[in-house]
Amino acid sequence: MRVFSGIQATGAKTIGNYIGAMRQYVATQDENEGDAFFCIVDLHSITVEYDPQDLHDRTLDLAALLYAVGLDPDRCTLFCQSHVAAHAEAAWLLSAVTGFGQLGRMTQFKEKGEGREFVSAGLFTYPVLMAGDILLYQTDIVPIGDDQRQHLELSRDVAERFNSRFGETFKVPRAVYPTVGARIMDLQEPTKKMSTTASSEQGRVLVLDPPDTIRKKFRTAVTDSDREIRYLPDEKPGVSNLLEILSVATGSPIPQLEAGYDGKGYGDLKTDVGEAVVELFRPVHERYEELRADEPELRRLLGIGAEKAREASAPTLQQMYDRMGFVRR
Ligand code: TYM
Repeated sequence: MRVFSGIQATGAKTIGNYIGAMRQYVATQDENEGDAFFCIVDLHSITVEYDPQDLHDRTLDLAALLYAVGLDPDRCTLFCQSHVAAHAEAAWLLSAVTGFGQLGRMTQFKEKGEGREFVSAGLFTYPVLMAGDILLYQTDIVPIGDDQRQHLELSRDVAERFNSRFGETFKVPRAVYPTVGARIMDLQEPTKKMSTTASSEQGRVLVLDPPDTIRKKFRTAVTDSDREIRYLPDEKPGVSNLLEILSVATGSPIPQLEAGYDGKGYGDLKTDVGEAVVELFRPVHERYEELRADEPELRRLLGIGAEKAREASAPTLQQMYDRMGFVRR
């Protein structure tokens, strides 16, 4: 099965990105060896205010991090979106079959644009670029977190509209969400998604936070005034979020964890989650430092990834041009 997913180049990566996305990337890479494409979506990063030097450095940081969590350049294709011109081209072509109204209903556009003095046109058309990313690769499955649900629906609509207007061209992709941890919540405001941009420093745990910072953030996580450790996301969002994270970090199912905390308090749970996450990220930190130190090697690997991605996307882009009536050859 063809797998495709993307992750923004800028912004520090949280445990939400890890659980919702990166961990799934590794699993789908393993299940679909050679057929999984992962993209550092640097073109998406310029839709909100950003610093060019930061974009440059963060792109390489993220490549090192993705290899560190387990993406293997021999078994999957990791590349930067800007290295494959087909992505920008596909976005323009697909804008012909994307409704202005539908783009206006995207909640991420509304949230990210709200209260800003300057809202870029790119922030509005961003989901079209994302649809192109996915559709260019004839993707079957897209491993993502819950917050990308609406964008994925739009990609499916765009594929269907193109297919019915210009003839069968794209596979209609399907999203895959993690069974536990599809929406990791902010540790300080557990009714809100943990976010790179919107969460406070204390509310989000970064994959590369030092161990003591991780422990402290979990120790000060907001729970509730009750005492029972139960998985009830609506009634007990803070505790339920901690249980989800603990379940992912330890591999134990949530009911088993709940039973184990019988008679224990929130303090125990917070300490245990902190420790489990420190252990989960320990090997990632070590590999990251090594990989990040060798920039020429990172660039070389990304170059190989770009070559493979260009090859894989070229036939679909050509087909798009042909079906739409362009004289290209
Ligand atoms: P981005 O960069 O914001 O997030 C990358 C991935 O992390 C997931 N994620 C979460 N999962 C669970 N809990 C959270 N708190 C959490 N926060 C983030 C996201 O769901 C995502 O899977 N538009 C996309 C990038 C993109 C893309 C694509 C994704 C561009 N092209 C094509 C898939 C396919 C985005 O901004 O993700």
